[in-house]
Amino acid sequence: MFGTDFGDVIETILVRRSIRAYGQGQIEDDQLERILLCGLYAPSSGGRQLARFMVIQDADRMDRLNEIIRNSLLRQQPAAGSMRSKGVLRAQQEGYRFAYGAPTLICAIAPRAFENAMADCACALENMLIACESLGLSACWSNQTHWLTGEPELRAVFEELGMGTEEDIFGAIAVGRRLRESSPPAAERVAGRVIRDKLIKS
Ligand SMILES: Cc1cc2nc3c(=O)[nH]c(=O)nc-3n(C[C@H](O)[C@H](O)[C@H](O)COP(=O)(O)O)c2cc1C
Repeated sequence: MFGTDFGDVIETILVRRSIRAYGQGQIEDDQLERILLCGLYAPSSGGRQLARFMVIQDADRMDRLNEIIRNSLLRQQPAAGSMRSKGVLRAQQEGYRFAYGAPTLICAIAPRAFENAMADCACALENMLIACESLGLSACWSNQTHWLTGEPELRAVFEELGMGTEEDIFGAIAVGRRLRESSPPAAERVAGRVIRDKLIKS
């Protein structure tokens, strides 16, 4: 797709897409281990490695989470221009699955008081998205658990798994088997996002 001059990692980054439909069945344990390893090896602010990863694969727990998220989003009004609006509207649909029915959800959590908590979690989540692509799996960022990290009912699910009261969820990825062989093409890149001083006459 991008020619043959790129290394494997770059090719993987370029072909990775957010996929929102998954094949039947759970991902393999060794795939999960490798994805998490890539999360653990992400850069971290000050090298402190404060981000932690909570994996949800239990179908009952996922259903419970889905119910909590749905009920919470149903109480919210979609606000024009807010990134959350689409998620609020989607929750109103029949058969709503916040993670599109993916069998695995990996949530990145970190101490809320840590100034680079979001950045650390985002680095790790992106590493893991790239790992999923490399392993031939489908994945998509899922922001609902982040939006609702302050909701007591949602927190209770994560506190069962060991999330501390001083930690928040900063993002998550849904992961599953590939349903279709090929991914959709990437959207056109918005022009003008790269500024190089060498090309600007002073
Ligand atoms: C911070 C962030 C939050 C996102 N939240 C969601 C989400 O809640 N649900 C979803 O389906 N996709 C979500 N996405 C995925 C984007 O919609 C997706 O990356 C974008 O449409 C570009 O598509 P691509 O990843 O296939 O290139 C999120 C991505 C980022 C970086």
